Amino acid sequence: MAVAGLLVLAGGAAVITGALTGRAEPAVTAEEPSANPMPTEPPRPSPTASPDPTEAPTFDRAAHSIDDPNSIWVVVDKLRPLNPTDYAPADLVDVPVPFANPPRLRQEASDAVVSLFATFTAETGLALQSQSAYRSFDAQTRVYTGDVAALGQAGADLSTARPGTSEHQTGLTIDISAQPGQCSLSACFGDTPHGQWLAENAWRFGFLLRYPADKTAITGYEFEPWHYRYIGIDLATEMRETGVTTLEEFFGIPAAPSYG
Ligand code: DAL
Ligand code: ZN
Repeated sequence: MAVAGLLVLAGGAAVITGALTGRAEPAVTAEEPSANPMPTEPPRPSPTASPDPTEAPTFDRAAHSIDDPNSIWVVVDKLRPLNPTDYAPADLVDVPVPFANPPRLRQEASDAVVSLFATFTAETGLALQSQSAYRSFDAQTRVYTGDVAALGQAGADLSTARPGTSEHQTGLTIDISAQPGQCSLSACFGDTPHGQWLAENAWRFGFLLRYPADKTAITGYEFEPWHYRYIGIDLATEMRETGVTTLEEFFGIPAAPSYG
């Protein structure tokens, strides 16, 4: 009867041989019965690999400052004025899109607006325009003063930020309207195909509808379906996926219904 022998080589691989039978048989490794004569080791996890590749990476909520006015995540509301209150961004550029008033934004936000407007037109056959983008402290003063004259202070405070507390002063925010205009800067913009597409798709370009209809108690402002704040695609995507619609709730900071 032919009995195979089992030898252990220096590398640890067991080798079956015909040595005990005296037959000349080719050596075949027990671990690797294929044509490859070299012993192989089981793959080791890379030290940089996630322990569980099926586990989604945790979103880093501290990746950017929410206090620094130059941060794309800066949170500005009635309780969080810009610091300094007369802050002006250093990288404002003209935004090359149709407009009612010539728009300027920070470079990154401008690039995102151009991409959003082009994609909107490609997907709907319709057109958008910028209504208002960057507003300096002085420009915001003029808008707020005019609104107080027209609406009274309580009415103005539901629709226009006091100077130093407007997202428009960050250079990251744009008011968008239809071209030609329908319901510009009115709640009914939310019912237009333009407003509906924006509400559904702006996150793809890093924008957030900052003042949703049901969040006045959090944001301090009535529904503004035209006001979009650039926060970058990572955060916009995370907010979309988690269903959190305000920056105050996402970052766990106080609601800002009034100036306190
Ligand atoms: N309309 C918004 C709240 C602003 O004035 O910044
Ligand atoms: Zn606005």
